[in-house]
Amino acid sequence: MAIAFSVNGKPVSVEADADTPLLWALRDDLGLTGTKFGCGIAACGACSVHVDGAVTRSCSVPISDVAGKSVTTIEGLKAADGTLHKVQQAWIEAQVPQCGYCQSGQIMAAVALIEQVGSPSDAQIDDAMTNICRCGTYPRIRTAILAATGQAAAAQQGEA
Ligand code: FES
Ligand code: FES
Repeated sequence: MAIAFSVNGKPVSVEADADTPLLWALRDDLGLTGTKFGCGIAACGACSVHVDGAVTRSCSVPISDVAGKSVTTIEGLKAADGTLHKVQQAWIEAQVPQCGYCQSGQIMAAVALIEQVGSPSDAQIDDAMTNICRCGTYPRIRTAILAATGQAAAAQQGEA
């Protein structure tokens, strides 16, 4: 069946079984390989995207669930003026990635958190950032989130 939705602001239509995971439609049908496969069971967050603004683990969402909805992937993340999103800038400045595999999912989760709460506290970061990083970049992820939200002093104190 053809399922129509929008990805990064553009209308798309994907021919797939209704229970095909959104992740595979993004990667295999639409060529958006910035979104990664890790566990396939909604546990690691490598596949995180936004669906109507909410962070969503795309390995565990059937494509039929996103019909008519708006999906944003790491490729579509931008500031209003088309430059890098402030979270991406903060990630670069804090040199967050190690191998990098988990990082697009981490960034999508961080952006959703910041859009939801503005300037998250450490406790809010702990609650929201449940994506797994096998390289252990968690301290730099926290530093980048704090820096992106103007909490640079706290970010420096927490740097490790
Ligand atoms: S691949 Fe989707 S949560 Fe791990
Ligand atoms: S940077 Fe390697 S898994 Fe996170």
